[in-house]
Amino acid sequence: MSEPMIETRQLTKQYGTFKAVDKLDLCVNKGEIVGFLGQNGAGKTTTLLMLMGLSIPTSGSATVAGYDVVKDSRNVRRVTGLLPEGAGYYEDLTAKQNLDYVCRLNDIPSLEIAPCVTRVLESVGLSQWADTKVEKFSRGMKQRLGIAEVLVKQPKVAFFDEPTIGLDPKGTKEVRDMLLKLNKEYGLTILLSSHLLHDVQQTCQKVLIIRKGKLIAADTIENLSNKLRQGQNMIIEFELTQVSPDLIHELEAINGVTSVQEENHRLYVNMVENMAREVSETIAKHKATILLMKPKEHSLEEVFLKYYEEED
Ligand SMILES: Nc1ncnc2c1ncn2[C@@H]1O[C@H](COP(=O)(O)OP(=O)(O)OP(=O)(O)O)[C@@H](O)[C@H]1O
Ligand SMILES: [Mg+2]
Repeated sequence: MSEPMIETRQLTKQYGTFKAVDKLDLCVNKGEIVGFLGQNGAGKTTTLLMLMGLSIPTSGSATVAGYDVVKDSRNVRRVTGLLPEGAGYYEDLTAKQNLDYVCRLNDIPSLEIAPCVTRVLESVGLSQWADTKVEKFSRGMKQRLGIAEVLVKQPKVAFFDEPTIGLDPKGTKEVRDMLLKLNKEYGLTILLSSHLLHDVQQTCQKVLIIRKGKLIAADTIENLSNKLRQGQNMIIEFELTQVSPDLIHELEAINGVTSVQEENHRLYVNMVENMAREVSETIAKHKATILLMKPKEHSLEEVFLKYYEEED
């Protein structure tokens, strides 16, 4: 049975007359790892801060692990962990000392601090760097330290705000794998905010998309992209031995073909339905040989840009 871990009802945050978050209704179940997508300024961080009990909603309500984010904000803060955007560390302290400090901030009893630090360092694969000063850490290692800081209080829900910004592909993968591991091994419920679709695609099955403070989609990535791809024209790419202007004109004249683009011996034929047969016959008539023929896939990025950009 699915058990809601994060639930918001008409959650709104207003700055003056500007609605940074506008009547948000969302639900994340226990053990889910959900992507929170939106362009810069869409309202992701504002939402996370409210869900952490760190910012008071203007109207509407939200519960996290069953606690109301306003009335029970202490408990909300106790059971949630946040890796903020651009988290900072004490560079001249070691990983262990940084974590020690975070344990104290979180009121972890003195006797429990050492085992806690050992445990979280182990979880993020930094045990062998425990006594190294953070200034020597790569950005990827620093992010893993940030994840360790989140794990200190053994949260039920963890929020990661753009955790892979500024990381190279290897560092990005490390962070992604880490989040997947925490989700799988500890059943940690994760809300991963990002504007990098690829990140989210690799880690989350479900995504929430927010635009101008409003939730515009909540579904699996697959369903969302299928929905968008429907009704889109089909583009078939042909690689030919030769291309002539005549051939292009004749292809354009085929009923159902909407446009033809040429790019070094390749033709991209845009059509409303599958006209591959007519197109290949026309090509043969022009004494050209088809070396390759394949549908052009829209990248997921292209597909989602439509979600982000479409006006209400
Ligand atoms: N304290 C504040 N006072 C006034 N406006 C604010 C405040 N905090 C955020 N905003 C505005 O609210 C909107 C949403 O901001 P938010 O930081 O939540 O966006 P975001 O989705 O996290 O963006 P990014 O991807 O850039 O981090 C922005 O237009 C921002 O300028
Ligand atoms: Mg943000």
